[in-house]
Amino acid sequence: DKLSKTDEELLQKYSRTYFLNENFIPMRLSKINNRYVMPDKKDLYFHGNGVKFLEDMLDDAKDAGFDIRIISAYRSFDEQTDLKGQYTQIYGSGSNAFSADQGYSEHQLGTTVDIVDMDTRTTSDSFANTEAYKWLVDNAYRYGFVLSYPENNAFYIFEPWHWRFVGVDLARDLHRADAQFYEWDQRKIDGYLIKIFD
Ligand code: DAL
Ligand code: ZN
Repeated sequence: DKLSKTDEELLQKYSRTYFLNENFIPMRLSKINNRYVMPDKKDLYFHGNGVKFLEDMLDDAKDAGFDIRIISAYRSFDEQTDLKGQYTQIYGSGSNAFSADQGYSEHQLGTTVDIVDMDTRTTSDSFANTEAYKWLVDNAYRYGFVLSYPENNAFYIFEPWHWRFVGVDLARDLHRADAQFYEWDQRKIDGYLIKIFD
């Protein structure tokens, strides 16, 4: 029963070579409270069962001295189509290095966010040099988040801002093993789906 009430896509690999589904929309979406969102951004949505983990992480980051904000969260298939289209107009095929085609983006899952600091205010390599990023690397797993695209990953450029919620158990086990989400076998990952929101 619990499993049937969980989106089975949430722990699937969806990146460049892994297609999600044109029609996928998370079962529940919740608006992220504006205090976690970069000022002047439009309303952002996150998976309704996962939003508490996200907000707890940002609250604790703030207590630790880091005012980090979300600049992108759930993106529908159509929004990803528009976004990729805009990048392609500017960068041509170069956009494939940092932007997924529609149907291939983890953002369509509703469990992925782009997080940046209030100084830079945009996605940038330089975020990797901040203390806030180091805090995320050391602590995000406690809230169930992993970095999808670390340095030298097989899919995109290094994206220090792009964090995906995979559940506390899986994130903790990946952290302990010093492993990346995309390195693990899908069948091993699937075993964590039933407890993703525990
Ligand atoms: N920037 C990542 C790869 C995405 O578009 O999902
Ligand atoms: Zn992203």
